[in-house]
Amino acid sequence: MGKQGQYEDSSNSVTEIGEEKKERFSRSGFIFAAIGSAVGLGNMWKFPYITGMYGGAAFFLLFIVCLLAIGLPVLLAELAIGRGGRGSVSTSFIRLSGAKGWGAVGFLSILAPFFILSFYSVVAGWTMHYAVLTFSGRLFSNTDYGGQFNAFIGGWLPVLWQFIAMFLTAFVIIKGVSSGIERFNQIFIPGLVILLIVLMVRALTLDGAGEGVSFFLKPDFSKLNTESALVALGHAFFSLSLGMGAMITYGAYVDKRQSLGAAAIAIGLGDLLYAFLAGLIIFPTTFAFGLEASQGPGLVFVALPAAFAAMPLGTLFGGLFFVLLAFAALTSTVSLLEVPVSFVTEQLGWSRSFSVIIVTAAIFLMGVPSALSVGGAVSGLNFGGKTFFDWFDFVCSNIVLPFGGLMVTIFVGYVWKGAAEESGLTASWFKLWLFMVRYIAPVLVFLVLLYSAGVIHF
Ligand code: PFF
Repeated sequence: MGKQGQYEDSSNSVTEIGEEKKERFSRSGFIFAAIGSAVGLGNMWKFPYITGMYGGAAFFLLFIVCLLAIGLPVLLAELAIGRGGRGSVSTSFIRLSGAKGWGAVGFLSILAPFFILSFYSVVAGWTMHYAVLTFSGRLFSNTDYGGQFNAFIGGWLPVLWQFIAMFLTAFVIIKGVSSGIERFNQIFIPGLVILLIVLMVRALTLDGAGEGVSFFLKPDFSKLNTESALVALGHAFFSLSLGMGAMITYGAYVDKRQSLGAAAIAIGLGDLLYAFLAGLIIFPTTFAFGLEASQGPGLVFVALPAAFAAMPLGTLFGGLFFVLLAFAALTSTVSLLEVPVSFVTEQLGWSRSFSVIIVTAAIFLMGVPSALSVGGAVSGLNFGGKTFFDWFDFVCSNIVLPFGGLMVTIFVGYVWKGAAEESGLTASWFKLWLFMVRYIAPVLVFLVLLYSAGVIHF
């Protein structure tokens, strides 16, 4: 059986830092689950509005370069750490380095999803509310969509929807890796693809769609600057779920015989394709109805309803759009919840169900101020000009996530000696990979970190 067999046998052993993970994804189950994690609100809610803000097609090209050149090598690094370590994030770091200090970095990337989930679930809740609102026709009964959105986020209803989002996420995670995460993604990811194609055909056949398509696909490089490059790189990280421990955690459940290189390419291309299709839905729709593509986070909840109201069968297509968004969000929240749950079950020896209940309850409670801070009861509570929601988003996306990514590149590039074997790459691919994670990725990610932290300006 050779080395692989020995490793698998040893996966039943109990080490001094906890038991190795024994659950495994099937091959396709892993790809679906990882694409599910990558594809989310980042692709459909954030990507369109930052593309609108930072120059359309030229920004999209930059995003593709960042995703393929920096994102993929770091993704492969995270998957290899997970499969090599076969533990929660912090345990995997300790196991592979033999140094307890690395546990602290792992611990940080366990806290990060905890925080990010507390506000990501708020936005996931908004999408579900909007799906119901659209299908029931209530959304179109009042054409002041900005006012409607503000009234909604200003009330208590977002807390209820955030609870529902967390409840559904917990429901999947409680069932475990194969019957929960894997099965859920195997059903929902193909569902997402069908919805995407239906909505894309609708958007591209609207009168005046062409202008939106050319905004998205015809690059004007004069619009690019250093800031857009850093935003593109930061978003490539967010979009591939990097720096957050999610891909390390999923990596721990991957079979030894699966090729991680091929998996990373499939995940990266799946994420990219999804962002591309999302662009082909959102830009033609906004341009066809004369709406502003660069208007920021309100694009999806404020601008698009006006477009749905004006298009034939808008109730159906609008409703499907928000269902699509909600599905995409849930396949990501599932991966985020698994990170702390994997840690708690391993470190405290709690059962999966008990861990899920406690961790979910804690995240929900932490998210309540976020849910109420975008216009609701605690929106007056600002710290340095930012609400709870803004702070959670800012600190996680701009500081913790690049920091986590930086640590991963340092770990694989300079600390862990077994990366070559675990990656399964051929010698020349391995050289290229190592070059990227050693020299290119850390420098660029460090720049993103400095820029996000406000240390450097452009
Ligand atoms: N990749 C997700 C998105 O684009 O919406 C967000 C995300 C999920 C980030 C899971 C990090 C993570 F661990």
